[in-house]
Amino acid sequence: MKSVTFVALVLCLSAGAALVRAEDPYHFFEWHVTYGTISPLGVPQQVIMINGQYPGPRINCTSNNNIVVNVFNKLDEPFLLTWNGIQQRKNSWQDGTAGTMCPIAPGTNYTYKFQVKDQIGSYFYYPTVGLQRAAGGIGPINIHSRDLIPVPFDRPTEEIDVLAGDWYNKGHKALKRILDSGVSIGRPDGIQINGKNVKVGDVAAQPINTVEAGKTYRYRVCNVGLRTSINFRVQGHPLKLVEIEGSHTVQNVYDSLDVHVGQCLSVLVTANQEPKDYYMVVSSRFTKTPMQSVAIIRYANGKAGSASPALPLPPPEGTAGIAWSNNQFRSFRWNLTASAARPNPQGSYHYGKINITRTIKLANSKAQVDGKLRFAVNGVSHVEPVDGTPLKLLEYFDVKGKFAYNLMKDEPSAAPQITLAPNVVNTTWRNFVEIIFENTEKTIQTWHLDGYSFFPVAIEQGKWSPAKRNNYNLVDAVSRHTIHVYPNSWAAVMTTLDNAGMWNLRSMMTERSYLGQQLYLSSLSPEFSLRDEYNLPETQLLCGEVKNLPRINKYSGF
Ligand SMILES: *[C@@H]1O[C@H](CO)[C@@H](O)[C@H](O)[C@H]1NC(C)=O
Ligand SMILES: *[C@@H]1O[C@H](CO)[C@@H](O)[C@H](O)[C@H]1NC(C)=O
Ligand SMILES: *[C@@H]1O[C@H](CO)[C@@H](O)[C@H](O)[C@H]1NC(C)=O
Ligand SMILES: *[C@@H]1O[C@H](CO)[C@@H](O)[C@H](O)[C@H]1NC(C)=O
Ligand SMILES: *[C@@H]1O[C@H](CO)[C@@H](O)[C@H](O)[C@H]1NC(C)=O
Repeated sequence: MKSVTFVALVLCLSAGAALVRAEDPYHFFEWHVTYGTISPLGVPQQVIMINGQYPGPRINCTSNNNIVVNVFNKLDEPFLLTWNGIQQRKNSWQDGTAGTMCPIAPGTNYTYKFQVKDQIGSYFYYPTVGLQRAAGGIGPINIHSRDLIPVPFDRPTEEIDVLAGDWYNKGHKALKRILDSGVSIGRPDGIQINGKNVKVGDVAAQPINTVEAGKTYRYRVCNVGLRTSINFRVQGHPLKLVEIEGSHTVQNVYDSLDVHVGQCLSVLVTANQEPKDYYMVVSSRFTKTPMQSVAIIRYANGKAGSASPALPLPPPEGTAGIAWSNNQFRSFRWNLTASAARPNPQGSYHYGKINITRTIKLANSKAQVDGKLRFAVNGVSHVEPVDGTPLKLLEYFDVKGKFAYNLMKDEPSAAPQITLAPNVVNTTWRNFVEIIFENTEKTIQTWHLDGYSFFPVAIEQGKWSPAKRNNYNLVDAVSRHTIHVYPNSWAAVMTTLDNAGMWNLRSMMTERSYLGQQLYLSSLSPEFSLRDEYNLPETQLLCGEVKNLPRINKYSGF
């Protein structure tokens, strides 16, 4: 579906003088969400499509643009999208998690309205209800720098979105039933790239893109899978890393890159080899049974079907593989001299010099509760309030007794038992916090924070202690929104909680977040000022406990 762009002019009257100010451009989308049939792993199955497509339509825009998406839910169940990595400044109302929005009922539509304020980079959207994410409904979001802002590389000839990751053949309803019955969904069935699994030697496969000799292409790669880390590489072509989740990086060149669940990055690839077909390879990392898919990059004037079956080797697995991966992570550096929009510049330059006001240490765990598998953070396994009213709405309307703040402590609990309850942590607006993710399990984890980006200052093996702060990268860590934690390791991130709202901090492993490994950070500006947070939007859906309450405007001024 095409997006329409126009510039609205708003008249602002101030101090008796009439000023004309150009508002930021709008992009309008109309999305119809339906079931459809494709064969991501070669077996036809029901997937969630947007306007008949999987992956869904690309949102292509520029920093500060306004995005308006009218979503028609034509599924047989509620639907809701989150915009992974879009910070929704002052506007957690549009974040699309169960704690912030009522889902869109089947047969109805709802219009998201948000601004991609001070952001650039590569992101994706996905459905958050139940296990819908396992069935598709996922698409790319690309945010460009404004024309006046220099970008630290030449404009590529073309940009290609690569949404890749693991895939289950079971379908989202079957997967949800398995989790609801109290057991794990187990291992995925394969890897898909943009909805396809192409095998080496498949000469009928369509190329993912066609390149011209001498030209440079930008691949925006996101791991949209449910639990599996992936490695990305291209036969015969090195990858120049230029961006990670909204930050321009130092432009190192790699043979292959690990991308963990929920993460995105951009690489430049120059078509400077013999003109023929080359395989792009996406393979699983740290799994018992290796999985992979290829996609074909075709040179114009090259011979179709000419890709060599000899694939570039994957990086090592096991302990050596983790060391390899962590070394690569350490080589990712923010380009401090590159210009680009970034939210809260005050909080992000010289982050290493800001005093930490709070340390939150989070440990993931799993346990059986009443014979059913649950996942927890510091002993609390998150569940939505009983009638599903979003936490943000309960907080805004001041409905008491449905959840308690700070049930979870800032330290992992020693007790083995797990409490099932809404997990909401009250934070002080504008605090500079350090969050430590401790992973004592044998599998890799990834964590995503809505509403902010953070500086991942270290990932190390073993146990964290305050002395480890001496090892932090306090200079040029890449500001991003999703961080992985290797087995028996910890990761430390830092951020300023300057975006008022209710923000989900979740395991990006869908099984884990669905079964409780997530929480919300509530941050309210003490002044109840419109400068800091928007009022309940007029069109916001109300449900559950607050369904029939009169709409109120809590914030004023500005
Ligand atoms: C995406 O948006 C950018 C910035 O507005 C524009 O330059 C570019 O041509 C667009 N790309 C596509 C494929 O529409
Ligand atoms: C539903 O779509 C109609 C037609 O485009 C639009 O006028 C209306 O505002 C939408 N409703 C919501 C709640 O977004
Ligand atoms: C960082 O960005 C600057 C400014 O655009 C650019 O000149 C420089 O080459 C980049 N540095 C690296 C190491 O990528
Ligand atoms: C940070 O903390 C140190 C030690 O407590 C103190 O001396 C310093 O003034 C603080 N800096 C700021 C900017 O508050
Ligand atoms: C949350 O923290 C803020 C700032 O420390 C405090 O003013 C507020 O009373 C707390 N709210 C709750 C519900 O505990």
